[in-house]
Amino acid sequence: MAFDPILLGVNIDHSATLRQARYREAGRTCGEFVEPDPVAVALLAEQAGADGITVHLREDRRHIQERDVLRLREAMQTRLNFEMACDDVIVDFALKLRPASVCLVPEKRQEISTEGGLDVAGQRERITAIAAKMTDAGIQTSLFIDPDPTQIDAALATGAPWIELHTGAFANAYYDAPLREEEILRLRRAAEQAAQSGLTVNAGHGINYVNIREILTIPHLHELNIGHSILSRALLYGIGEAVRTMKARLRGE
Ligand code: PXP
Repeated sequence: MAFDPILLGVNIDHSATLRQARYREAGRTCGEFVEPDPVAVALLAEQAGADGITVHLREDRRHIQERDVLRLREAMQTRLNFEMACDDVIVDFALKLRPASVCLVPEKRQEISTEGGLDVAGQRERITAIAAKMTDAGIQTSLFIDPDPTQIDAALATGAPWIELHTGAFANAYYDAPLREEEILRLRRAAEQAAQSGLTVNAGHGINYVNIREILTIPHLHELNIGHSILSRALLYGIGEAVRTMKARLRGE
């Protein structure tokens, strides 16, 4: 029986985290001696089979910078998924950038990376307005939410066509069998509810080469967005091998 393969979006933020650890003061310089270059990482990931590239331009610019995003937009061949906060300045940037999709995420300065899902129910009007602007510009909007029925209903009401289910709680519970079971059930139910409502279901955060086997039991998955685990493996084996191995995991190999 033919089935659509689950797509792999590679989040390259942490290649910029590594660069910023040494070259925070390098100003507008990029490429050449300022390493690693996230754009080069993205292009190698694409050559190895990544279906899309994700970057998150955070308010505090702790990893990806504007110039990375602009260079990436010019150079890449696959789909650019631009993660962003619900902030007017960044909304304008996204409308000019015109990525294939934006993923709206909550942002807190203190967190190491995005921690909780977006409270769509609590800011429905604002998110509805952003999603409408994106739709008018031909950009798909995805909402990064916890696997919570209320948030799924709220996401549907905004008119955004996609959601990304936050898999972080499942990943954190991985070595606690009862909790892990609870979390994977929440994700499966949420995916079912969202798909029945007509939403496209993506998932991401904390997915790695081990826990992905259980992630694949979530129904209706369109795309997984994975960053930290792929970049960590890339340090040992190279980004090409890391992406090819994750693609094989996605095929259940
Ligand atoms: N999806 C979203 C919305 C994210 O914010 C992130 C990064 O925090 C990821 C996926 C990737 O998470 P990870 O780096 O843990 O794979």
